[in-house]
Amino acid sequence: MTRNLGILTSGGDCPGLNAAIRGVCKPAIAEFGFTAVGFRDGFRGLMQDRILRLDNAALSGILTEGGTILGTSRDKPNKMPVGEQTLDMTGVMVETYEKHQLDALVCLGGGGTQKNARLLMDKGLNVVTLPKTIDNDVGVTDMTFGFDTALAIATDAIDKLHSTATSHHRIIVVEIMGHRAGWLALGAGVAGGADVILIPEIPYDLEAVAGAIRARSKAGKRFSIVAVAEGAMSKKEMKAFDEAKQRKSDAKNKADKQKAKDELAMLDAARGDHTVHLTHLLEEMVGMEARLTILGHLQRGGTPSAADRLLATQLGTKAAECLDKEQYGVMIALKGQEAVPVPLEEVAGNRKVVPLDHAWVHTARRVGTCLGDG
Ligand code: F6P
Repeated sequence: MTRNLGILTSGGDCPGLNAAIRGVCKPAIAEFGFTAVGFRDGFRGLMQDRILRLDNAALSGILTEGGTILGTSRDKPNKMPVGEQTLDMTGVMVETYEKHQLDALVCLGGGGTQKNARLLMDKGLNVVTLPKTIDNDVGVTDMTFGFDTALAIATDAIDKLHSTATSHHRIIVVEIMGHRAGWLALGAGVAGGADVILIPEIPYDLEAVAGAIRARSKAGKRFSIVAVAEGAMSKKEMKAFDEAKQRKSDAKNKADKQKAKDELAMLDAARGDHTVHLTHLLEEMVGMEARLTILGHLQRGGTPSAADRLLATQLGTKAAECLDKEQYGVMIALKGQEAVPVPLEEVAGNRKVVPLDHAWVHTARRVGTCLGDG
């Protein structure tokens, strides 16, 4: 009897998604006798029953393509914008699953997707997930696919910024993605030889950053590259956030809770131009011209690196094996060299940030990089 699988990509795209779709579907179809159907644009496509049949022709030639042939969105099954409203549409998604007589649904995504997949698992669907994101912040897995490619892009950008920073004797601040984790900024900063690296895990002291740049100037280095994770915060900002969070959790009534929530939202919004402010402040404090480069979505584009293709294919083929064995409710994690199914309960809501004693942190300090903490 034929078995049927559904597959979707959700959350921000990244290089390696197509390699993973191919990695799941090729063995599932050829070796394990599944038919495969892709849902377009993440959980929204599952809700609206918008599909792409994934046969050999559809899977051919996609290994090296960036983005996702299925499209993606950040929609959540239980908080789906529908017209003017936000509704819980998990029930409708279960109906689509049943309509297509699916045996399992494979969800490719980051931290949010793992939580969303778990919601559907709790509604009775057979779910297998894969960890993707340039942020590398999904818990339990050693690595997510998409990260290696973004790391190379951000490193290449830092390399390029070096020559112009040197020529003009400037400070160049480079903002690197990563959401609330510092993997990408730290990795690219170390690989690209940034002079200062600021990550969310280590709140920084502005004077320490300015001091490090001044010290370089005194030593005859008339430029500095400052790699800043988009989620990095000064000690002052961190204190304001922590206090607002505390007020939220201490709130005795709805009004106080809402007030604290609004305060947090305001602090968050003010962070939008965090690196713009930082660049101005460093220019003033150090007395050197400063410029800002925001790498943005460039980091999510283009052809996946060889390492990402390998990882996505390895995790994808392991997912196909799990489908064959009817091993559901798991995410396929990388542990060492192995692709290992781990219970989704252990992953959902488990964000992986850079541990303060991580080897990359030690490495950065050893080569004299300022991490902003003094
Ligand atoms: O999660 C990947 C990521 O690129 C983050 O690094 C970044 O914070 C976010 O997505 C940007 O999201 P969007 O593409 O929705 O602007």
